[in-house]
Amino acid sequence: MLTWMENTAYAQWILTGLTGWPLVLSMHAMGLAIAVGMIFAMNLRILGLYKTIPMSATRTLLGFAWIGIGLNIFSGFSLFMTQASFYVTSPPFLVKITAIIVGIVLLVMTQKSMGRELATWESSGVSSQGRNLAIASIVLWVLAVVTGRLIAYL
Ligand code: HEM
Repeated sequence: MLTWMENTAYAQWILTGLTGWPLVLSMHAMGLAIAVGMIFAMNLRILGLYKTIPMSATRTLLGFAWIGIGLNIFSGFSLFMTQASFYVTSPPFLVKITAIIVGIVLLVMTQKSMGRELATWESSGVSSQGRNLAIASIVLWVLAVVTGRLIAYL
């Protein structure tokens, strides 16, 4: 299965074509900038920074974060196909994918908590669960970005 992926014309175009790798990796960089950028902005607001921005405004950021995540699942899987049998044995890759999956679960939990408690968060501050989710989310997405960068080196 992994070798089949590596031998597809699509994977070969990405790996050997002039434009393949730069195009897909640039898409991956854009996706991570959008996803991680929006998630960070939302979490920093939840942790009490720039209080002038209404908490409800951060919900709009979530929509963009999902677009970035979608872009990175597509571009990431495309990159993965090029050297699949190597990536499944790469510790930074495996740590990264784990951090992303847990990061996405926390994003859904934050979205649900915000849906339930937004009025309370706006009037009397964010719950401790909301703050803990924000801190854990920041740690996980930093881990995802750092290990993502290390894949090529380790
Ligand atoms: C929002 C989620 C994601 C983030 C934040 C992320 C982050 C990163 C980062 C920072 C890099 C290094 C880019 C560079 O070298 O300039 C990278 C590379 C890579 N990512 Fe992701 N990624 C995400 C999702 C995925 C997914 C879902 C997959 C696979 C299914 C994936 C597969 C890869 C691969 C194969 C590379 C190339 C590694 C190499 O240089 O050989 N990524 N990612």
